[in-house]
Amino acid sequence: MNTIGVVGLGTMGAGIVEVFARNGLDVVAVEIGEAALERGRGILTGSTDRAVARGKLAPADRDALLGRVRFEVGTDALRDADLVIEAVPERLDLKRSVFAELDRVCKPSAVLATNTSSLPVTEIAVGTVRPDRVIGMHFFNPAPVMKLVEVVRTVVTADDVVADVAALCTRLGKRGVVIGDRAGFIANALLFGYLNHAVTLYGNGYVSRADLDTAMRVGCGLPMGPLALLDLIGLDVAAEILDTMYRRGGRDRRHAPAPLITQLVTAGFLGRKSGRGFYTYEQPGSAKVR
Ligand code: 3HC
Repeated sequence: MNTIGVVGLGTMGAGIVEVFARNGLDVVAVEIGEAALERGRGILTGSTDRAVARGKLAPADRDALLGRVRFEVGTDALRDADLVIEAVPERLDLKRSVFAELDRVCKPSAVLATNTSSLPVTEIAVGTVRPDRVIGMHFFNPAPVMKLVEVVRTVVTADDVVADVAALCTRLGKRGVVIGDRAGFIANALLFGYLNHAVTLYGNGYVSRADLDTAMRVGCGLPMGPLALLDLIGLDVAAEILDTMYRRGGRDRRHAPAPLITQLVTAGFLGRKSGRGFYTYEQPGSAKVR
């Protein structure tokens, strides 16, 4: 697998582009329109410029990395890709329509992967004429930093596709773990009940957001408290994941979205990316709390 396509250049898609390009692969980065394409390009250049400023990446290596990425509007540019990763918003109808397009455009040997965090990969796969070559590749946020990729195999996925994708994860310096197609896979299945519970605890007024987050950081050794992590994930994304897990996972009340998450999303407070979530940030996209 040498040429990789990425469809959807939001936080996750742009991060995934960076992961592949950093590791020497050619990437075709695709969006539906010029504005979204420029936003995605901005996320990639912002992240690589930060790495240069921190002395973690030589300017020449940044330029070489960016030189391996071709930005294109529309999936026609993915004809020669060996693997395409879809990272569009978490709506099954949208993902299925993207896969129908990819199925039409991509060469028959290409593997089609979804970065979905909670939707059924099987339902995405069976909408194509190559369900055996459809797989989940679930990256974690921030994708350039987090080492895990959940490789999601369905009952239809071919063994050689699973093996190739697992080997590719190693080539990217990631740890691939293989899991069947169940709601939330491994990490989100365990993580989101905890995050949702934290919102309820905070929403019920028992504790300040700072003390709640400090307790989990300092007391349990986690890199971030749950409210700060939700702001990083994006409250809209978190609400969608909870909603899907609630519906797919037998309506387990641990995953019934806490009312406060829903209210914040309705108000447009989506976390770091919008500049305000549980915390208020210096500017949209910033990690610095005001
Ligand atoms: N993009 C690229 N690189 C980033 C980044 C970003 N958004 N944020 C941080 N980094 C890099 C920094 O450049 C730095 O790199 P360096 O060590 O080479 O200099 C490194 O990460 C550490 O960053 P900082 O020193 O600024 O800050 P921290 O040490 O606090 O680390 C963190 C930041 C990596 C985000 C850390 O707090 C962390 O691991 N948090 C937990 C994240 C987590 O749990 N993610 C999973 C969420 S669940 C998910 O994604 C599933 C999905 O389906 C919702």
